[in-house]
Amino acid sequence: MIKNLILKNRSYRRFNQKVTIELHTLRELVDLARLSSSANNLQPLKYILSCDRRKNALIFPNLAWAGYLKDWQGPDEGERPSAYIIILRDMEISKSFGCDHGIAAQNILLGATEKGLGGCMIGSIKRQRLRKILDIPPRYKILLVLALGEPKEKVVIETARSDEDIKYWRDNDGVHHVPKRLLDDIIVG
Ligand SMILES: Cc1cc2nc3c(=O)[nH]c(=O)nc-3n(C[C@H](O)[C@H](O)[C@H](O)COP(=O)(O)O)c2cc1C
Repeated sequence: MIKNLILKNRSYRRFNQKVTIELHTLRELVDLARLSSSANNLQPLKYILSCDRRKNALIFPNLAWAGYLKDWQGPDEGERPSAYIIILRDMEISKSFGCDHGIAAQNILLGATEKGLGGCMIGSIKRQRLRKILDIPPRYKILLVLALGEPKEKVVIETARSDEDIKYWRDNDGVHHVPKRLLDDIIVG
């Protein structure tokens, strides 16, 4: 059921770092993105894959985690992602801003969920530093980083009771709560 997969596909930010992800798995996931819709079918997205400790350690410090959790600076060593997929736009193919990368990212995360993995889209990226450290050529614009691993946290969906009630939070047992607006509150006509 697609709904079960979507329900399971939450944003996970703590992982069993000991569980590694192989390069061929990342390639399978990017293949799901390759088959996504694309405006004008231009297919401007390109990808950088990382699943080894050295490269992962270069990427990690350039990401910001869970802005609403003010007392938490991101996953500790041992709970960090086992892999990353960096989504780029090839400016030589398209300079315009579309939503291709959102679709691609969701396909990848749904595919990861089906494999018993999980992840988080990270848009808050120190882009200049990441470009420098990975030597990413200027033709590629850094759009999103997908952090991936075997989830080590429980995430539950709550009901958002008001417009202000959209901040996710973590309880004393470490369970992450994500308020979602009600169906009747988002259908406006
Ligand atoms: C485009 C986009 C950018 C995001 N950037 C970040 C980010 O920089 N850091 C982070 O911890 N989470 C990030 N998230 C995850 C959201 O916080 C998360 O989707 C939201 O809290 C709802 O949780 P859910 O994905 O489990 O439904 C991003 C999500 C999207 C769609």
